[in-house]
Amino acid sequence: MNPVETAAGKASLSAHPESADTIKFEGGKPLVGEVEVRGAKNLVTKAMVAALLADSPSVLRGVPHIRDVAVVRGLLEAHAVTVTELADGEIQMDPRGVESAHFAEIDAHAGSSRIPILFCGPLLHQLGEAYIPDLGGCRIGDRPINFHLDALRAFGAEVDKSNEGIRLSAPARLVGARVDLPYPSVGATEQVLLTAVRAKGVTELTNAAIEPEIMDLIAILQKMGAIIVVEPNRTIVIEGVDSLSGYDHRAIADRNEAASWAAAALATRGDIYVRGAHQQELMTFLNVYRKVGGVFDIDDEGIRFRHPGGAIKPVVIETDVHPGFMTDWQQPMIVALTQAEGRSIVHETVYENRFGFTDALVKMGADIQVYKEGIASITRRVPRRPLEQAAVITGPTPLTGANIRVPDLRGGFSHIIAAVTASGPSTVSNVGIISRGYEHLLQKLDGLGATFELQE
Ligand code: EPU
Repeated sequence: MNPVETAAGKASLSAHPESADTIKFEGGKPLVGEVEVRGAKNLVTKAMVAALLADSPSVLRGVPHIRDVAVVRGLLEAHAVTVTELADGEIQMDPRGVESAHFAEIDAHAGSSRIPILFCGPLLHQLGEAYIPDLGGCRIGDRPINFHLDALRAFGAEVDKSNEGIRLSAPARLVGARVDLPYPSVGATEQVLLTAVRAKGVTELTNAAIEPEIMDLIAILQKMGAIIVVEPNRTIVIEGVDSLSGYDHRAIADRNEAASWAAAALATRGDIYVRGAHQQELMTFLNVYRKVGGVFDIDDEGIRFRHPGGAIKPVVIETDVHPGFMTDWQQPMIVALTQAEGRSIVHETVYENRFGFTDALVKMGADIQVYKEGIASITRRVPRRPLEQAAVITGPTPLTGANIRVPDLRGGFSHIIAAVTASGPSTVSNVGIISRGYEHLLQKLDGLGATFELQE
């Protein structure tokens, strides 16, 4: 029985939407209908950290029900920030009682999230100390934090590493600094912004990331009283101020989730209206979507994405920092590209190891070759990086159902699309991880006509 087709099933689906860990799909049906995307995970979580910098409460709207938001809420509450849900998707954060949290408590709330790193600047300003749990362990992952620590040291923070993690302290008020990032890292740019706004004097950040979520964070900081100038060539100049007040802000929409549903429409030969999708932040994605043959119609409220009927075309994609093609978009697009007529190449230049999810697609019948050293190419626009990889996808290949396990957030969403695209049954395990960044995933799939049941 498919529980989502019965009243009782609907109840169980909405009662435990994010805790379902193994799901059996019956694929081969197009996804058709409407979904809504709310605030971007990669802005909302940072905006919540920014609330710590203020001396009065902040209100954030468009907050999705995802696990990363719960993680940051837990960390704020561990530091005695009062978080109140004013309405669905609207939270108030009052930092006036902020105090240090116990190391173990931070560790327990942080889980595998990297967000605790971004608490450093605000906590150093408010309390003179901060902790980063479990550095180097798998819970923070292999992604390094050297840019973050170098920047914090430049502001005058002292960094002490121990077996437990990292303790940072600020013996005196942090001072503005010149920071030149070796790579336009999103997190390190946010680290500098969240620290420089209340440091004494001027900070000049060069080679900064300029993702739309960073621009939205800058808008929030400006509302709070910060002075931040975004100059050409990835330079950001911040004049530190003595104090900041709370903000009232609606978060920018989640373009990564929008792109995921767009790819799902293409892969399943479907038709999905993504309410809340916003053209400006998706232009690079939309160009690729059109080149592949996908159709989209833009209106004031969202974007309708659909398969053209007939065949779709192969494409060459190079992931890059904004305004390039985001690394978080390649995983769902690769599922669609397994259905394109011919050979596609995806060069992953942002992370050194982001094709693990393709193993499951190959198991389902896709023809995907991963080149662990990347592929030299004369037509490249994005400069070659030492650790990049490439995937060559040759299609079209029918996908057939299989037992697969979700490896990570974006790879996980692509597994779900693959299971919906494939003919026959698929069992997808470790699905819970996807709730880190996708709100109401199962309800949305249900609304789009996917056939699935939760496994015990
Ligand atoms: N890097 C370093 N040292 C550092 C920081 C980064 O070498 O100290 C390297 C990374 O290893 C990577 C590159 O710089 O090769 C880019 O990493 P970046 O710092 O930009 O990534 P991030 O801030 O950790 C955010 C998003 C990611 C998204 C990337 C790229 C959040 C919470 N995460 O990560 O989103 O892929 O920017 O846009 O904002 C996701 O949503 O699933 C996700 C992983």
